[in-house]
Amino acid sequence: MQKAQILLDPDFVVGPVRRQTFGAFVEHLGRCVYGGIYDPTHPDVTAEGFRKDVLKLVRELGISTVRYPGGNFVSGYKWEDGIGPREKRPRRLDLAWHSTEPNWVGLGEFIAWCRKAEVEPMLAVNLGTRGVSEALELLEYCNHRGDTTLSDLRAANGSPEPFNVRMWCLGNEMDGPWQTGHKTAREYGRLAAETARAMRQIDPELKLVACGSSHLEMPTFGDWEREVLAEAYEQVDYISAHAYYSEKDGDYASFLASAVNLDQFIEAVSATVDAVKVAKGVTKEINISFDEWNVWYVDRAPSQPPTGDDWPIAPALLEDHYSVIDAVVVGNLLISLLRHTDRVHSASLAQLVNVIAPIMTENGGRCWKQTIFHPFAQASNLAKGKVLATKISAPEYHAEAYGSVPTVDAVATFDEDTRELVVFAVSRDLAEETELSVRLGGKKLCIKSVETYANADFTWKASADDDVSVVPSVNRTAAVTDGVVSIVLPPVSWNMIRCAVIY
Ligand code: AHR
Repeated sequence: MQKAQILLDPDFVVGPVRRQTFGAFVEHLGRCVYGGIYDPTHPDVTAEGFRKDVLKLVRELGISTVRYPGGNFVSGYKWEDGIGPREKRPRRLDLAWHSTEPNWVGLGEFIAWCRKAEVEPMLAVNLGTRGVSEALELLEYCNHRGDTTLSDLRAANGSPEPFNVRMWCLGNEMDGPWQTGHKTAREYGRLAAETARAMRQIDPELKLVACGSSHLEMPTFGDWEREVLAEAYEQVDYISAHAYYSEKDGDYASFLASAVNLDQFIEAVSATVDAVKVAKGVTKEINISFDEWNVWYVDRAPSQPPTGDDWPIAPALLEDHYSVIDAVVVGNLLISLLRHTDRVHSASLAQLVNVIAPIMTENGGRCWKQTIFHPFAQASNLAKGKVLATKISAPEYHAEAYGSVPTVDAVATFDEDTRELVVFAVSRDLAEETELSVRLGGKKLCIKSVETYANADFTWKASADDDVSVVPSVNRTAAVTDGVVSIVLPPVSWNMIRCAVIY
């Protein structure tokens, strides 16, 4: 059997485990909101019409923040359409997804949902069709304590307490020609800087995210970040990054190595941002809000929006059904985000319900977990304390898209208070088992629990009828010898190794 080793040291720390790494995304897109988080036709909903089964799974997933309301949707959105009496709210064309937006759910409902789901809201302002003035009005409506027309309107609409939203995205994917109100880097950089400056006049402590590139392959990647930050560096806290991966033409080996690309992406953005810092001669650091990431089969039928005269309300869109191998890749992407905790300060799995999502629903019916639910939930619930630098030695394999790639990838977190070490590891080997040993320099480990998520058929997908046949289960190969843990990783697997550190 092939062998791999992980060497760790509790003193070699990358940075803290940030709860904000475990965020997600709710967009007015397809059935994410209507039929997803909100469905008054369902038999078991809250007084506001939120599905209780979805709320339960969102809590189980361990989500920290939820980005809202888009996405491409936000670039044509008027937030005022979604407040006040529901029967008076307008219906609008949503150009981003060629749908009709009924505005049954808006700001007040979303904030109420966040409180029930026990997550922090993260709002995006529209810098596509709108600008500084509308962003300021939205901020005042949300966060001002009272005694102004807008904050009193919020109270009159049922929310006397300010929403106190801390983190704000200044637009969405403004580098993309598909974006309503798409801009050049200079145009957007100026607008982002002026919007941020004005928002800080209301509240200097806000956390503000400027749009980075929509993905690594954008022809403007790098130049976009540099030019936007040339204008906005002093005014913002984060630059965004988005990345989606998919298996293409049966090349599973390259697909399994997607996190190699994510590592490169994060490191390239960090370097570009730091080059602007040096050029400006400032000490302030800009970090990354990785506010969209996932596996997404963007070219397949479920992701094609309606066309022509068809402008439906909440069509089934982007409803990818995920396999075990998709879940392993999602777990590996999360490993990459965690190992860059020094630069990735926030992240959002895109999205949360029905739309490229870990949670699926039937309108008025059942709710179920996709395969990708499992690695996310384990990491979110168990990663605590600090992320440790992980030295991995593993056999390599050839991936067409990335060259030579280690078959094993991993990240480790260590909680000093509980003396608990958790290793999250994937096997990217398509055929062979790998014996993995984990050693913590100078300390002995003892096993608390070891679970593996894998299946002989890695194309297996969960469904409403069966989301329980393949779940994380106890890995009975785990053993300890002289304080060193070893386990056998099945091919194409996600693994969680939870240990106590003996001093
Ligand atoms: O998450 C789906 C879409 O992907 C978002 O609306 C957009 O920001 C990105 O291109």
